[in-house]
Amino acid sequence: MTGSLAFRLPKAELHLHIEGTFEPDLIFELAERNGIALPYASVEALRAAYEFTDLGSFLKLYYAAMNVLRTEADFTELANEYLAVAHSQGLVHAEIFFDPQAHTSRGVPFRTVIDGLWSAVQNSASHYGVTTKLIMCFLRDAGPRAALATLEEALPFGDRIVAVGLDSAEVGYPPDAFADVFARARAAGWRAVAHAGEEGPPAYVWAALDRLGVSRIDHGVRSLEDPLLVDRLRAERIPLTVCPLSNVKLRVVDSLAAHPLKRMLDAGLLVTVNSDDPAYFGGYVGENFAAVADALDLSDADLVRLARNSFEASFLSAGERAAYLARVDAAAAAVPER
Ligand code: HPA
Ligand code: ZN
Repeated sequence: MTGSLAFRLPKAELHLHIEGTFEPDLIFELAERNGIALPYASVEALRAAYEFTDLGSFLKLYYAAMNVLRTEADFTELANEYLAVAHSQGLVHAEIFFDPQAHTSRGVPFRTVIDGLWSAVQNSASHYGVTTKLIMCFLRDAGPRAALATLEEALPFGDRIVAVGLDSAEVGYPPDAFADVFARARAAGWRAVAHAGEEGPPAYVWAALDRLGVSRIDHGVRSLEDPLLVDRLRAERIPLTVCPLSNVKLRVVDSLAAHPLKRMLDAGLLVTVNSDDPAYFGGYVGENFAAVADALDLSDADLVRLARNSFEASFLSAGERAAYLARVDAAAAAVPER
């Protein structure tokens, strides 16, 4: 029963890089449409390269593939494909990361990216039954000056963006350098989130909280190494957007059975389950729910808790959140006890 519940429960996804939903078939289709040669002979050859040893080895391929994204329509199509697949696994709300610097740095205008994504966002509820928000991430390895320039480019589109985030290579790039950029973003009315504690130490999670003023931590699995940090996260109900299949693929954990998700739940942390870069890591949000349910022997009640957490941790208004929570409870009630 738990397996089907993993897919049927209404869910929000709060840690999803839209560029990480770029499936090999669409990569090849857009490469051809845009007249760009790929260094892979076939979809199968590209898929065969999806063997990662760490975050860095993944990011190389992630940035290489997105080179074929060129037009507004490309970005719309990318987002639409994600929404269709994820909705088929129970997704009803998504707060979607995008990496503008990975596009502007190769000559694609900011406006092309935001207009393309915005077109998908505007139609997501009517076309796919999914409400959506956009979170603009800064590439931490590109440094704070580039982040500030990106922030300024984005300000005219402020009402299309709910929050700023921080992603890309983590170790060696502590959050502290981005304190001013994040302060400016928050002064402009945006919320803030940051990747921290994926490969980096608990100190990066503290810095994201204290120096960047984030209201969620993305990943944060290494927080468990620091009991004082765990106390803080629990006391302040700071959400951690955990990505189980990603953590296995990028070797943050040895196996799904060794994943700390259940320990985090048991420690009273507000954890959510997300797919991160589903085209690369072997599963969309429902598949992540099903995989942890199986590997960690989660109960139906655990899955319902995770689905509820996904809305509790979202940037939805109180009214929207209450309506979604009622949908979770209705779906849970429709399932017989095991
Ligand atoms: N970590 C950091 N940066 C990223 C990731 C991730 O898991 N996915 C896409 N960019
Ligand atoms: Zn991520």
